Amino acid sequence: MMKDQAHELKQKMLQPSKNVTVYAVVSGKGGVGKSNITINLGIALNQSGKSVLLIDGDLGMANLDILAGVASRSTLMDFFESGKPIDDILIHYQDGLDILPGGSGMLSLQNSQDEVIKEFITSLIGSGRYDVIMIDAGAGVDAKLISFASVAHEVILVTVPEPTAMADAYSLVKILSVFEIKHRIHLIVNQVSGQKQAQETYERLDKVIGTFLNAKIELLGYVATDMKVRDAVSRQIPFLIAYPVTLASRNITTLCDRMLERNSEFSWSSLGDLVFRFIKVFGA
Ligand SMILES: Nc1ncnc2c1ncn2[C@@H]1O[C@H](COP(=O)(O)OP(=O)(O)OP(=O)(O)O)[C@@H](O)[C@H]1O
Ligand SMILES: [Mg+2]
Repeated sequence: MMKDQAHELKQKMLQPSKNVTVYAVVSGKGGVGKSNITINLGIALNQSGKSVLLIDGDLGMANLDILAGVASRSTLMDFFESGKPIDDILIHYQDGLDILPGGSGMLSLQNSQDEVIKEFITSLIGSGRYDVIMIDAGAGVDAKLISFASVAHEVILVTVPEPTAMADAYSLVKILSVFEIKHRIHLIVNQVSGQKQAQETYERLDKVIGTFLNAKIELLGYVATDMKVRDAVSRQIPFLIAYPVTLASRNITTLCDRMLERNSEFSWSSLGDLVFRFIKVFGA
């Protein structure tokens, strides 16, 4: 089965290359809104015509599927252990939007045999069916996060305006800068009153990062504090779908438009290059 998939992929990769952009959504402090931003931005990009894959990188507490109200039946373990087709593991949330559930299966990536990892990555990333891949890197600054950030073209750093979250955001940028990932960091400030507070938060963070790390981050945008977000979380429906015109949803739409506008500035990769990057990260 996996051999067939790999063969099919090799064929696809020989075809004129399709470009893919990979975003890693990260934060210093947990609970700042990464998963909500990932799923809702993913839906917005999909509604704009992009084919999107969301990867739940949260090994301990995978929750993109919970936020989306879709239970995941299979895990990556099924791929590694019994060669279950990737298509049976992916959650097809809506046309052109798939979710790869996380869970403990992701842990086995590092320990699997090289060939299996290569096949997994080629069959998923190299399948040519996605324009955008967003990785919800989950909570915690660890090796996994560095891997996700280094494989991505763009790092989306999420923070809230509280000083503790900003300090943790700074620490994360510091770590990323050691790994020379600092040039691709775009900030989303979540849970603000509006543009003014987002701008102030950005400026404060950018200033310390400039002073102490000699680096720069860019403000991608913000999502306002909106009670409808909490409401949507308890209903297990992404807020963009449950409340399309609520403030947070309009902010997500603006963020999505900015991402699409900036696509040309972003470094897109051909499939072959991308598969190579992933393989490097996952140690094969
Ligand atoms: N813009 C917002 N307005 C109001 N509440 C919000 C907003 N964004 C997030 N929240 C609240 O914060 C909670 C945590 O959000 P989310 O699960 O997306 O964070 P996370 O960064 O993915 O957390 P973790 O680090 O645990 O994975 C949500 O369940 C919601 O209640
Ligand atoms: Mg999360």
